[in-house]
Amino acid sequence: MALIILAHPSFSQSLANQTIIQQLQQSSLDIEVRDIHSLYPNYQIDVKAEQEALLRHQTVVFQYPFYWYNMPAILKLWFDTVFTYQFAYGSKGDKLKGKNFIPSFTVGAPESEYTTLGNHHFRVGEFTKSMEQTAYYAQMNYIDPIYFHGTSLAAGYTAEDVKSKARTHAHRLIEKLAALA
Ligand SMILES: Cc1cc2nc3c(=O)[nH]c(=O)nc-3n(C[C@H](O)[C@H](O)[C@H](O)COP(=O)(O)O)c2cc1C
Repeated sequence: MALIILAHPSFSQSLANQTIIQQLQQSSLDIEVRDIHSLYPNYQIDVKAEQEALLRHQTVVFQYPFYWYNMPAILKLWFDTVFTYQFAYGSKGDKLKGKNFIPSFTVGAPESEYTTLGNHHFRVGEFTKSMEQTAYYAQMNYIDPIYFHGTSLAAGYTAEDVKSKARTHAHRLIEKLAALA
């Protein structure tokens, strides 16, 4: 039913994204998780395999940690190589038309820092505009991102805090996926 494109370069050390994936796998949802960093440790993406995976599902979730106000590089590479001409766009490029596109990510710093006078100046939604337009260009249904702040242990959050917020995040995502089914 839903394809989860997991993009995390150090998933074995992850707290937030690992908790979200565990919760999804323990749910009753029918999901296919593709951990693209472990599938492609040398960043040689199998475009055909990824496009076939997209064709199998009506909903695609992009699960990743927020890196430099954006997605991890391997996920950007995934878009660059998989969303090809006449597949995702172009006169015959309607293979993704009508599919749901859900960004789901975790943000290290607190929300209070994502304000005009805060360290990060902009709201998170201002950083996700290019992804939103990518979805529109591929004729997909962009669903508002699901994310939460405060995953950085360096900022003083405890592991238990982070896991608890990640479980709440996962439940929001599961509810969204169930509603789309
Ligand atoms: C390379 C790198 C870049 C990051 N950039 C940001 C950033 O721009 N903004 C932010 O709030 N957190 C940033 N972080 C923190 C990550 O978002 C945070 O480590 C992640 O959400 C934790 O998820 P995990 O427990 O699944 O690893 C960055 C972390 C790394 C390693």
